[in-house]
Amino acid sequence: MCLCKCHATAQGCSLFVLLLLLAAVIPPASCRANPARNISAIFIFGDSTVDPGNNNNRLTLSKANFPPYGQDFPGGLATGRFSNGKAMGDMIASRLGVKELIPPYLGDGLQLDDLLTGVAFASGGSGYDPLTSKITKEKLRTLVGEETMTQVVSEALYFTSMGGNDLVNNYFLIPFKQDQYNLSSYVDFLISSAVNFTLQLNQMGAKRIGYFGIPPVGCSPSQIILGGHPSKECDQIRNQASELFNSKMKMEIDRLNAEQNIYGLNLAYIDFYSYLLQLTQQPEFYGFKEAAEGCCGSTLFDASIFIAYHTPCSNVLDYIYWDGFHPTEKAYRTVVDNVLRVTEEHLM
Ligand SMILES: *[C@@H]1O[C@H](CO)[C@@H](O)[C@H](O)[C@H]1NC(C)=O
Ligand SMILES: *[C@@H]1O[C@H](CO)[C@@H](O)[C@H](O)[C@H]1NC(C)=O
Ligand SMILES: *[C@@H]1O[C@H](CO)[C@@H](O)[C@H](O)[C@H]1NC(C)=O
Repeated sequence: MCLCKCHATAQGCSLFVLLLLLAAVIPPASCRANPARNISAIFIFGDSTVDPGNNNNRLTLSKANFPPYGQDFPGGLATGRFSNGKAMGDMIASRLGVKELIPPYLGDGLQLDDLLTGVAFASGGSGYDPLTSKITKEKLRTLVGEETMTQVVSEALYFTSMGGNDLVNNYFLIPFKQDQYNLSSYVDFLISSAVNFTLQLNQMGAKRIGYFGIPPVGCSPSQIILGGHPSKECDQIRNQASELFNSKMKMEIDRLNAEQNIYGLNLAYIDFYSYLLQLTQQPEFYGFKEAAEGCCGSTLFDASIFIAYHTPCSNVLDYIYWDGFHPTEKAYRTVVDNVLRVTEEHLM
């Protein structure tokens, strides 16, 4: 999540770029090993919850490639990841034995091997909501026709984590959205976008997709303040919006799993909401001391470029939230434990 409007084009372009890159670099099917149950590649789509630095060279306020971001990343590098350390994709890839870091697809010096083992197309501020132009279905269909590509793409594991940004920054912050939609119709619109996105991925050849639900956005420090809660309890209106999306998304995933089975599509719902909410509800149990304040501050202006070159944040291990929106690496690690459990149960 971040402070700018979403760019669903990022996803459209991402697919397009992925296919072009794969077309250019992938050897013919006969040269490759058999599709193994072992995971050979992980591709990540989504917003700043999983962006490893795709916005670094883009014109946007949603960036994190300066200190104090990355203060606990190897070498203390501010890579563009929206946290003090690694991103969830890195942790997932590492735990599954694929590689230590998932690089951004827009990163400098991307190698053939990076592409073949997975990259992240996620970028801060993006979401399912296609506000601007998107890639046409025709383009996708033409590209997906390439058998080799489809094969490679079909062996990978995919994760998407988005939607929170649409709710927090598009629905709740932009007044015209609320004139145009009520919450229920806006959620339906997001669900429809998410389903279409999934079908596009599947058309492209993706088979195994883990879907992160929207986190409890009302518990992030900035939304607690925006919601007007002096005693620091989570904002229930924003959390209910997340829950509404998540319950509908779960139903859609069940429906798609039943319907699309014939195309080998296998979707798993990842309950990001509960995994993060449980930390907020029992911080001490999970080893945290502060659930409602961000380590770098708690307002809307305590995230992204607004805290560039802020002094390093000490005691980060006490905090669930790093800045006004984004969890700390320690909080993400707990989430990832659960993600892996679901992945192993449903996608392997
Ligand atoms: C998966 O990887 C392990 C370790 O590299 C290897 O021993 C095993 O045979 C692989 N499994 C398959 C199905 O290829
Ligand atoms: C929300 O909008 C939809 C379509 O515009 C309408 O059918 C529905 O009754 C509205 N729901 C509420 C609670 O206002
Ligand atoms: C999803 O695809 C359907 C069928 O092509 C289309 O009618 C609908 O408008 C799309 N939804 C969104 C949000 O783009």
